[in-house]
Amino acid sequence: MKKVYIETYGCQMNEYDTEIVKTILKKHSYDFTSEPENANVIFLNTCSVRENAHQKVHQRINTLKLLKRQNKQLVMGVLGCMAQNLRKELLDEKVGVDIVAGPDAYKKLPEMLANVDESGEKDFYLTLSEFETYSDVFPSREGGVNAWIAVMRGCDNFCTFCVVPYTRGRERSRDPLNVVQEVEQLAEKGFRQITLLGQNVNSYKYEDYDFADLIEMTSRVNGIERIRFTSPHPKDFPEKLLQVIAQNDKACKQIHLPLQAGNSRVLDMMNRTYTKDEFLTLAKHIRNTIPDIVLTTDIIVGFPTETEQEFQDTLDVLEEVKFDSAFMFKYSERKQTIASRKFPDDVTEEEKTSRITRLVDLQRKHSLERNQRHLEQTFKVLVEGNSKKPGQQMGRNDGNKIVVFPDIKADVGSFVNVKVKEVTTNTLIGTTI
Ligand code: SAH
Ligand code: SF4
Ligand code: F3S
Repeated sequence: MKKVYIETYGCQMNEYDTEIVKTILKKHSYDFTSEPENANVIFLNTCSVRENAHQKVHQRINTLKLLKRQNKQLVMGVLGCMAQNLRKELLDEKVGVDIVAGPDAYKKLPEMLANVDESGEKDFYLTLSEFETYSDVFPSREGGVNAWIAVMRGCDNFCTFCVVPYTRGRERSRDPLNVVQEVEQLAEKGFRQITLLGQNVNSYKYEDYDFADLIEMTSRVNGIERIRFTSPHPKDFPEKLLQVIAQNDKACKQIHLPLQAGNSRVLDMMNRTYTKDEFLTLAKHIRNTIPDIVLTTDIIVGFPTETEQEFQDTLDVLEEVKFDSAFMFKYSERKQTIASRKFPDDVTEEEKTSRITRLVDLQRKHSLERNQRHLEQTFKVLVEGNSKKPGQQMGRNDGNKIVVFPDIKADVGSFVNVKVKEVTTNTLIGTTI
């Protein structure tokens, strides 16, 4: 039996896809290994979203291809977004890659591997599909607490900075009944929480079913106690969805709402289709509807032409919304994107660094403040396992915050009540009651 080693980069969609790849290969009698030295096939499932994601993979290819010296038959493949994005560049002799397969090509992998084996020649498949949702491949997951489920793939938003619409193609949603079947299997395997995934998840639409319907349908599966989702787009947040989150006990009171920038001119250049005020109105409305909601976000600093004053608008939105946490990035120009074609990357590296430093400092302050509100509160915590701290266990509350408590040998996947006694910027620390 040939052994496959897979490394995964990038977002949860890629983690999910790696499981799809494994399921497909298992059916074709491949086995898996966690050591690249023992593998006949090495796959890197890659990300293209920022330049450093590319650099990491290039470095990794350079290291791993040394293994070909000992094993001439070793097959190296690049999967995922970088495969789609860099296309044939990766097949250049010097790179040392034998297979390049984009995110819609995974059903072809067994055939591609056979081709490479037989002919000794490179193979690639990069056609994006308007239909592929892998709905007939339920990924084989080992047990756990949370399972990620891709419910829609692709993105039609074309934010001008973003490569995803090019690497993952057009939006397509899975049949909700098929999603529910997958959730039922997960519940049988002991999973307690699901996270519905999509690049643009609230655009989910299948016949007459929308995303709010999907949350309701999956919440009826016995055994699943918590439902999360990521990432929605602020342009697309109907009242119906908010009401489902507010009223459905299984829907977690946590929303990741990517802001990207606080200035309306920059937002327009980004093609985000909302203004600063519209975002603020939405955030306030969400907080009014669900007062204890946990709000998190994504922000980019140094988008082309963003001035210092415009950056202040981003800080302003932070001050007004006070997010619980945020992923913050320096703008990274991506090939193929509209921004790379139309707007020179003209904010200096120094300026980007200065802005992100100030942004991170402010966000850390807010994260701490938001966590301090939880002092003396009691949370139902879904236990995930041992904490990094010896003698402690950890889990998450409904708001997805990490909660650490003394080891009471609570079973993974069980719920414990924890009263918060101490907080840091990213952890709540307490005692079980
Ligand atoms: N589909 C998701 C996330 C896409 S990528 C969404 O729309 O929310 C995750 C985050 O990476 C984005 O929200 C954005 O903040 C960041 N990002 C995407 N392209 C980027 C680029 N070219 N430079 C820097 N950050 C980027
Ligand atoms: Fe990229 Fe925008 Fe689509 Fe998110 S919504 S994947 S940022 S194009
Ligand atoms: Fe990266 Fe592709 Fe995900 S670019 S963030 S792996 S969709």
